[in-house]
Amino acid sequence: MRDPVLLTAGTEEHDLTRLDEYRAVGGYAALEQARGMEPQAVVDEITNATLRGRGGAGFPMGRKASLLARGTGKPTYLVVNADESEPGAFKDRDVMRFTPHRLIEGCLITAHGIESESVFIYVRGEYAHEFEVLRAALDDARKAGLLGGVTIVLHRGAGAYICGEETALLESLEGQRGQPRPRPPFPPVNGLYGAPTQINNVSTIALVPKVIELGAAEFSKIGAESAPGTAVFSLSGNVANPGNYERPLGTTIRELIYDVAGGVAGGRELKGVIPGGSSVPILTPDQIDTPMDYDSIGAAGSFFGSAALIVVDDRCCMVQLALRAAQFYMHESCGKCTPCRVGTRWLVQLLTKIETGEGEATDLDLLDDVCDRMLGKSLCALGDFAVYPVSSYLRKYRSEFEAHVAEGACPFHGESSIEGILAPVDQHAAHGLEQAAVTT
Ligand SMILES: Cc1cc2nc3c(=O)[nH]c(=O)nc-3n(C[C@H](O)[C@H](O)[C@H](O)COP(=O)(O)O)c2cc1C
Ligand code: SF4
Repeated sequence: MRDPVLLTAGTEEHDLTRLDEYRAVGGYAALEQARGMEPQAVVDEITNATLRGRGGAGFPMGRKASLLARGTGKPTYLVVNADESEPGAFKDRDVMRFTPHRLIEGCLITAHGIESESVFIYVRGEYAHEFEVLRAALDDARKAGLLGGVTIVLHRGAGAYICGEETALLESLEGQRGQPRPRPPFPPVNGLYGAPTQINNVSTIALVPKVIELGAAEFSKIGAESAPGTAVFSLSGNVANPGNYERPLGTTIRELIYDVAGGVAGGRELKGVIPGGSSVPILTPDQIDTPMDYDSIGAAGSFFGSAALIVVDDRCCMVQLALRAAQFYMHESCGKCTPCRVGTRWLVQLLTKIETGEGEATDLDLLDDVCDRMLGKSLCALGDFAVYPVSSYLRKYRSEFEAHVAEGACPFHGESSIEGILAPVDQHAAHGLEQAAVTT
């Protein structure tokens, strides 16, 4: 039997960017159903379905909604995180590009559930095409009278990874510099404009119509017991058929790499796999029978993250890979707190020294020490994201780091497969982006 698909359902036969085609596959029926329900009943359905956030931490969406402050006299806001800037992650892009109405329907159902009249979708600055597709779909939904008094604001960011962190995103939406806020208070109590705010990832929200359509009991039968439903897994790096594939949560890494994406490119040997985007610890080939769900990946010592699997083959220099990752996080560090602002620079300097053959034996312990001084000591998780790749590669492939020092050069002599895995930081990538905000 074919695996059930929820997020991508209907995309093979229909152009779901079109309202009539989305309706032809039952689109907006769940909205009608939800509007016939009490708001709390909608939230209960999401809670009972154990819909866990697809943006990184896997926090249950229903539980988040139950934390929203009530009776404050302030409006309640829904904010959708469409910033998707983690290297390796490109699942939300396809939701916006191919099924924008599913996202809009999810927003409207959630808005009904949490009794919100204002929704903000914060779209990654570089996703210019996706922004336009979403804008056109929103226009069509509005003209068809589907918004029902809810205002949906599309906001295009200016190309900063930190604006995916939920409180930096709120600052940016408010027109401030995108930097994280100290917590508590958390957004359900004090979020956008100081009001109670529900924040969820694009893919989380786009699953909501299926939760209502199927009902919590049926939805829970799909995927892993602790994490029902599906996820769109983004496979990249040294893999034969890179791309987005929707599969139930709990599908093993081995199945995803070998059965779904055609195995390691060129039939090479697998050296490791980064399961959740460049910020999470790497797993080794003996760990690929781990199911891709939050708890199993956590037990294996990594994170589900953004379900972005980066495949690394035996030709990759792990020092180069660590350096590329560290350069990205240094570039994206907002500079607000010292461990991350200073620590990311230390990581880059030490890794550069080792990669260019200038490293000394003591530098490996120093690298470890810098990681230790950053981990858990930064204002937001970006500080930890900078550490996980470096510390996990150093721990699991230490002999390669030692070989750089012993040989006084990179043992891969320019033959590494790095270019197929992580692109170098483009210092100018964000320049020239015009910002646009559209209200309907
Ligand atoms: C540096 C940083 C970047 C993040 N980027 C994103 C992002 O691009 N998209 C996203 O949904 N969550 C991102 N997150 C996680 C969000 O802070 C938040 O947990 C998430 O949007 C909640 O949605 P969910 O519960 O539906 O997963 C990021 C977190 C950090 C620390
Ligand atoms: S951890 Fe880094 S990105 Fe996060 S607030 Fe501190 S400096 Fe900014």
